[in-house]
Amino acid sequence: METKNIGLRGIEVADTKISNIDGERGRLIYRGYDILELTKNSTFEETAYLLLYDDLPTRNQLEEFNSKLIDARFIPKQMQKNMGNWRKDADPMDMLQAFVAALAGYYDEEFANKEASYDKAINLIAKVPTIIASWNRIRNGLDIVDPDPTLSHAANFLYMMSGERPDSEVEKIFDVCLILHADHTFNASTFTARQVASTRAHMYSACSAAIGALSGELHGGANTEVMKMLLEIGDIEKVEKWIKEKMSKGERIMGMGHAVYKTYDPRAQVLKQLSRKLAEKTKEPWFAITEKIETVTISEMKSQKNKDIYPNVDLYSASLYYMLKIPMDLNTPIFAISRVVGWAAHIIEEKFAEAAPKPALYRPKATYVGKYCGPEGCEYKTL
Ligand code: ACO
Repeated sequence: METKNIGLRGIEVADTKISNIDGERGRLIYRGYDILELTKNSTFEETAYLLLYDDLPTRNQLEEFNSKLIDARFIPKQMQKNMGNWRKDADPMDMLQAFVAALAGYYDEEFANKEASYDKAINLIAKVPTIIASWNRIRNGLDIVDPDPTLSHAANFLYMMSGERPDSEVEKIFDVCLILHADHTFNASTFTARQVASTRAHMYSACSAAIGALSGELHGGANTEVMKMLLEIGDIEKVEKWIKEKMSKGERIMGMGHAVYKTYDPRAQVLKQLSRKLAEKTKEPWFAITEKIETVTISEMKSQKNKDIYPNVDLYSASLYYMLKIPMDLNTPIFAISRVVGWAAHIIEEKFAEAAPKPALYRPKATYVGKYCGPEGCEYKTL
């Protein structure tokens, strides 16, 4: 089998008990539970516990987990001060990557100990929203809003970002968004995290690398690009011409297509419903424009390449976040607020797998196609 330059598609590189995608049927499970059920019956905190500890929490376990998260929400004052020295127009993903790596300088590194790794995971899950919200306040010349211990993870982030406590409907919508983004097997950023962890680097380092991977537009960065596209198109009447022109030039439509799903991404289905609901309330045009982009891209793909294409998780999250008044360039950082749970669970699985065969240091091969040089000069040859 020719396996080069296919981005490891279809190559199974490890065992995992954390999540599974059924790409044919459009199904995603976390630790045995269908995500659609989790969005209906669980909170983000319960889902995070499930992903980390392999089981839904009892009431006492949830209380303990919640109180650890709440205690860990504050970030060091020195870090807030350092944020103030950054350029105000810095990309929030670059800022997040840097400050997640910097957390290692404030807290003990985990030792070769699974329990300590859970503490680091909780520290990261709690602090990533605070880093993003604090940065958003600082860059806008506003005072930082301290975390509110009475609020859920979802509501607290929206509060720290805007200074206003969301109503219960908005809180629930955002909570569902967080549940949907929490894990997705060996996607690019999770594979990055696992690869870094396989060298025995610590959790902050592995998560910071994962944030770099998430930022690219073919991965998590697509949700920001979708919103840019919506604003550029601006009018439902212009969608058809815009999409046809892009696709005839061979350009990709952000938020469409997926490496694993061969049918509708189940996360996109939920996000589409939520975006529709918000649009009915706000009367903004972004949902309708997105839906038209979906329809035109599907039909263009069929007529140009005779292939099927479906929306991915990023298509409808863009309009949804925009209607929630979240600054466009925080779309991808918000992805990280949720996905850090998956990264942490995978890092722990990578480092502390109990059953053999235990994961090995990732070290693939490449074929050298460069030149060979000697006193006679250089030449390209196959040895
Ligand atoms: N728009 C237009 N054409 C597309 C798109 C798209 N969004 N996605 C795939 N295609 C086309 C490709 O050009 C290619 O055509 P070709 O066979 O004529 O060369 C064909 O479909 C297959 O493309 P691949 O890249 O091999 O397909 P794959 O399924 O591996 O790609 C990917 C998945 C990278 C996500 C792709 O669909 C894409 O670039 N989408 C846009 C970016 C995006 O939304 N990324 C977010 C993904 S979800 C996430 O990471 C959170």
